[in-house]
Amino acid sequence: MTLKLIGISGSLRAGSFNTMLVHEAARCFGECDFEMTNIRFPLFDEDLEAKNFPAEVTALAEKISQADAVVIATPEYNKNLSGSLKNALDWLSRTKPQPWARKPVAILSAAAGSTGGVRAQYSLRHCMTTFNPRILQAPEIMIAFAGKAFDETGRLVDEKSVQYLTRQMDALKAEIKRR
Ligand SMILES: Cc1cc2nc3c(=O)[nH]c(=O)nc-3n(C[C@H](O)[C@H](O)[C@H](O)COP(=O)(O)O)c2cc1C
Repeated sequence: MTLKLIGISGSLRAGSFNTMLVHEAARCFGECDFEMTNIRFPLFDEDLEAKNFPAEVTALAEKISQADAVVIATPEYNKNLSGSLKNALDWLSRTKPQPWARKPVAILSAAAGSTGGVRAQYSLRHCMTTFNPRILQAPEIMIAFAGKAFDETGRLVDEKSVQYLTRQMDALKAEIKRR
């Protein structure tokens, strides 16, 4: 059966390197039913939650629930995950049933700095622990100096990065099978 893979980019920017990285991850994953999702949600607000829960949050929660695995790439903004991604996680945490429980998840990051967004990855990992997903421990994929890491078609230039990403996607497939 074809595996269902969901992609989430923590950047809303049209030319986002993290969005490119999610697409590269899907390519390295190989044959699957891949869907890139959108986290352009309103700012989380308990009043809005009570009055008019956003349908797009419910729709994403359903997609995550139905997926075999999720790939998330986060930008690093001031040494942390992006506000957009944290906002999406806060909204998703209010959906029932909890879509992340036991879900295989791969975390990635691309950043302009030399550390490739590692601090953002760890803050993302930290705030997701409460949802109890099965986040891969290794290999970790950090794409440093992101402005030079992708070609004009959005492909990773460095063959070693592609190899590591393929290894991570193989680990994700193995995690799906462990269910
Ligand atoms: C508000 C802001 C804060 C940033 N902070 C960091 C940072 O802490 N570390 C880093 O490596 N890059 C930082 N950057 C640069 C981002 O890594 C770069 O803009 C990157 O391309 C954003 O990801 P995207 O291409 O997916 O949008 C920051 C950029 C912005 C706009």
